[in-house]
Amino acid sequence: MHLRTLLFAFLLSLVYGQDRQIIAKLNPDCQNCDVTNTLVYVEAIGSHDTIHQIWDFTGGMPTVIFAIASLNSSMQIIWRDTQPAKFNFSESPLYSFAASIDQVYEYEDCKNNGHMNEICPTRPLSLRNVSWNLTNSLLTDKKEAMIRMHGFYKDRETTGIINMKLDLLPFEDYAVDLPHLIHTANSTLIDVSLVNFTTTLNSSRFALHFVMVSTDAATEIMDYTMRKSLDDEHTPGVFEIIEIKTPKCRVSQDGGFMQFRPVCYTEAERTVSSSTNAYISNFNRTRIPGRSTLWMFYREYDRDNLLVQDMFISFGIPGDGYYKQHNYTSWSFTYGYGSPPMEGVSLFVIIIIAVGLGVPVLLAISGITYVLIRRQKYRNRPVQFSDEE
Ligand SMILES: *[C@@H]1O[C@H](CO)[C@@H](O)[C@H](O)[C@H]1NC(C)=O
Ligand SMILES: *[C@@H]1O[C@H](CO)[C@@H](O)[C@H](O)[C@H]1NC(C)=O
Ligand SMILES: *[C@@H]1O[C@H](CO)[C@@H](O)[C@H](O)[C@H]1NC(C)=O
Ligand SMILES: *[C@@H]1O[C@H](CO)[C@@H](O)[C@H](O)[C@H]1NC(C)=O
Ligand SMILES: *[C@@H]1O[C@H](CO)[C@@H](O)[C@H](O)[C@H]1NC(C)=O
Ligand SMILES: *[C@@H]1O[C@H](CO)[C@@H](O)[C@H](O)[C@H]1NC(C)=O
Repeated sequence: MHLRTLLFAFLLSLVYGQDRQIIAKLNPDCQNCDVTNTLVYVEAIGSHDTIHQIWDFTGGMPTVIFAIASLNSSMQIIWRDTQPAKFNFSESPLYSFAASIDQVYEYEDCKNNGHMNEICPTRPLSLRNVSWNLTNSLLTDKKEAMIRMHGFYKDRETTGIINMKLDLLPFEDYAVDLPHLIHTANSTLIDVSLVNFTTTLNSSRFALHFVMVSTDAATEIMDYTMRKSLDDEHTPGVFEIIEIKTPKCRVSQDGGFMQFRPVCYTEAERTVSSSTNAYISNFNRTRIPGRSTLWMFYREYDRDNLLVQDMFISFGIPGDGYYKQHNYTSWSFTYGYGSPPMEGVSLFVIIIIAVGLGVPVLLAISGITYVLIRRQKYRNRPVQFSDEE
């Protein structure tokens, strides 16, 4: 019986396996681009709209831009040498949102609690001059778009490696690696790792600085939510799910979101024992970084009336020996359109609940039945004395 259901589900997923068709191109129409320039343009064509995604590393600062437009829309990139200079849409997008990691912050964790603190020294490292190399990609297949990037950071005092992976699959599933985030046809899975960064402070940690943009009114705010899931089956020990939604996503479910678990890893091999905490800071209003791909993209918009906020993601727990203990931090998030996916209740949990609720109910029912039968028997006993009154 179960096998048949499973088989049916499997066949169904074969037929309806792809929620969107994916077309990915590396540096489309760029004459002078070489291996050191990476801009991936992904079109994810659905049943009634198209998501245009731009994954950009040409300006040093990793940037993901989403633009939602009608089914037949297309986009063309005009280049100035090896930098995108203009994004021409066949029709103006209905909605757009973006995120960029413009800086990594080295910070002194003087309270030894993992968090960034205004009273302790910090040192921003701008990613503008990171040299990025595309080390692996999957772009020709219409069933997946994936790139792996290797970035080398260097200034007078610090060197370090930033690795990133961006992956779009046209169906909903749990990611293979911990913390097994849910990716969908509408959302891209992004991994970031900071490897072998040299430190200049006594108790250094590193944080990622994000600039988040959306085509909502500048007076609105990005929405932070922390949900608790009842089930930690996919991410042992981590029950919280953090979501940042654009104002439109909060009210109508066709805005943008970022989703992650407050956990990061200190070894390349992600395990429960190599996991530690990730924290999100408050949001603050900011501006789009100048001379950036974000700046170019939103040039067509009234930039004074865009919502632009920033935030930090920092990593670590008290007493873990700071960043230098492992010289490695990796963290994942998904970035997408629509409403953030919710984890379904797994079969395992259903069984546990069924047993947990079933046993008492069964006991109660058998108890009641027993009492009823006893009464019935008592009533049906030959009545000997009752009529003698
Ligand atoms: C998209 O193009 C197809 C054929 O080119 C046309 O039939 C369809 O009506 C168009 N849809 C929209 C929303 O413009
Ligand atoms: C993706 O977005 C479309 C609307 O553009 C929506 O109909 C669909 O349900 C979304 N899929 C997921 C998995 O969120
Ligand atoms: C980081 O440094 C360690 C030890 O020096 C080395 O084994 C490892 O390969 C380095 N990692 C990268 C990505 O270069
Ligand atoms: C991390 O790097 C520092 C030098 O920047 C080195 O002294 C330390 O031993 C490294 N730690 C590990 C675990 O490799
Ligand atoms: C770092 O540690 C040294 C020696 O413990 C101390 O003299 C120095 O003030 C510390 N620097 C900072 C920024 O805390
Ligand atoms: C927020 O922005 C204001 C003005 O730019 C700045 O003074 C303040 O320090 C920022 N706060 C945080 C937490 O970054």
